[in-house]
Amino acid sequence: MASLSQKDLLSIEQLSVDDIRLVLDTAEALKEISSRAVKKVPALRGKTVINLFFEPSTRTRSSFELAEKRLSADILNFSASASSVTKGETLLDTARNLEAMSPDIIVIRHSSAGAPHLLGRECRSSVVNAGDGMHEHPTQALLDALTVRSLKGRLEGLKIAIIGDISHSRVARSDTLLFHKMGAEVWVCGPPTLVPADFHLLGARVTSLMEEAIEGADVVMMLRLQNERQKEAFIPSAREYFTLYGLSRERMRGARKNAIVMHPGPMNRGVEIESEVADADYSVILDQVANGVATRMAVLYLLSGKSGLKPARKPR
Ligand code: CP
Repeated sequence: MASLSQKDLLSIEQLSVDDIRLVLDTAEALKEISSRAVKKVPALRGKTVINLFFEPSTRTRSSFELAEKRLSADILNFSASASSVTKGETLLDTARNLEAMSPDIIVIRHSSAGAPHLLGRECRSSVVNAGDGMHEHPTQALLDALTVRSLKGRLEGLKIAIIGDISHSRVARSDTLLFHKMGAEVWVCGPPTLVPADFHLLGARVTSLMEEAIEGADVVMMLRLQNERQKEAFIPSAREYFTLYGLSRERMRGARKNAIVMHPGPMNRGVEIESEVADADYSVILDQVANGVATRMAVLYLLSGKSGLKPARKPR
C-alpha cells in the first residue's frame, strides 16, 4: 500500500515533491467516490479518527468528517468548549487522555502554531494539522493544488497571485511553499503592513501593487483579512482596503484570458472580493470545497498504516 514518508502530516515544509504528487494522484483517484450513489468504501474500516478542533471551522471540519465517513472510519468529534479544557486541562493532557483510547489518527486545529507538532511528538497516532495559528494549513494547500492541477493540467510554470492579509494567513504560507516546490511562479501581494518582510524566503515574489500581481496571472487567490488575529489596525478602513486590494471584474482583466479565481474561505464579499467575481464562471471557489473531501480522504488513507510507529513506553 502506498503511504506518506512520515507518520504525521504537519506542514507542507516537511513534504517532498514525491509526497505531494502521491497525495494529489490519490485524491484524483478518490474523487469519483463522492459522485457514487453509495458514497462509501471500506479503506479505513476498523480505524478510529478523532477530530480535535479548538478553533471554529466550516469547510475543514465538515470535509474531514465526510472524508472519514466515506472511508468507513469510526470517528469522534471533540468539541473543546464542551470538554474539560474549560476546567483548565492542558492540550497535552487532553491529547494523552484521548490517545489512551487508541485512536489511529488525530486531526487537530489549534490557535497556537506548533500545537500539532507537539501532539505528533507525544502521540503514537498519526497527527494531521488542520490549521495551526498563523503557521500552516497543509491540507488546504493540497486541495488548492489539486484544484489548480485538475483545471490547468499542471502546476509548473503557472503564475499564481496570492493577495490579501499575508501576515496572518496560514494558507498563504502553505500555498506559497507548495506551489513554489511544484515549480509555479508565486506572487504575494498586500498592504506593506500585512506582508512579512521575509516572505520572499519562502520562494514568493512580493509586491504591494495589485496590478503587478495580477498581470498575466493564471490563478488569482484572494485571502480575507484575518481580523481575529490582528492585534492593531493594519488598514485605514474596509472601504479603502477594497479600493486598493479588492478583486473586481475590472482588475481581473489584467489576468490571463482563462485565469481562475480562488478563495479558501470564509469569504467577506465586498471587502476582499466583489460578489460578481466570487460568483463568476471563472470562480472555482466551490471546486476547492469539493476537492477538500477527496484531498482529506487521500491524506487519511495514506497515513492510515502509519500510526503506532513510535516505540511503546518501557514497562515500569
Ligand atoms: N479554508 C478553511 O480553513 O475554512 P474553515 O475555517 O471554514 O475550515
